[in-house]
Amino acid sequence: MSSVNKKLIKKFNRQAQTYDRMRENQFQRKWREKLIGEAKGHVLELAVGAGGNFPFYKIEKIDTITAVDFSPEMLGKAKKAARQYHLPAAFIESDIDELFFENQQFDSIVSTLSFCGYSSPARILENVSKWCKPNGQVLLLEHGISSNFLISTLQRALDPLAVKTVGCHQNRNIMKLVNHSPLDIQKAEHHWLNVFHLIWAKPRKE
Ligand SMILES: C[S@@+](CC[C@H](N)C(=O)[O-])C[C@H]1O[C@@H](n2cnc3c(N)ncnc32)[C@H](O)[C@@H]1O
Repeated sequence: MSSVNKKLIKKFNRQAQTYDRMRENQFQRKWREKLIGEAKGHVLELAVGAGGNFPFYKIEKIDTITAVDFSPEMLGKAKKAARQYHLPAAFIESDIDELFFENQQFDSIVSTLSFCGYSSPARILENVSKWCKPNGQVLLLEHGISSNFLISTLQRALDPLAVKTVGCHQNRNIMKLVNHSPLDIQKAEHHWLNVFHLIWAKPRKE
């Protein structure tokens, strides 16, 4: 594992307790309810963290959840949360960049508040489109650079500090990333001056 990743994992390990406490009481609650409530079948959740989405899965729609993260501390909290919410979840400790799945494995692929952290977000979107079944769904809740000049200027200024302290970029153009990926956006919502995006997508048909 690279030393960059080791450092990043340490940063996220340190935040596990905070994410664990926030699970029931988070400002993105409404957005998560709306998005995660649509997950069904065999679900892949990327960068699961402490299981921030677990309260919002509709258990009757779910066959399995395969949850991945490279932070062992986050995964420890997520495992407890899965038991608490009676979710049929299995966990993989891995860098998303090093994951391998057969093509067209999953009915739903979920990623929330995580494209700010990946070192190669475009490649991950390519893999997501391969791993998702052709009629499956990709559910994203992500934050990025605002369309508002003042906010985006602040985000650009804060980016190096945010990366250093919490491992999270503030300046990514999420809609551009997804629009340039092999995914077709079915529906999107934008909040807080386009800082937050809820995206419902599908693999693009060849
Ligand atoms: C901001 S937290 C969000 C956690 C969760 N998705 C949520 O919405 O509450 C970002 C998570 O991504 C994980 N992460 C970041 N980069 C990763 C990578 N390359 N591979 C695996 N996990 C990663 C971190 O360990 C952390 O748990």
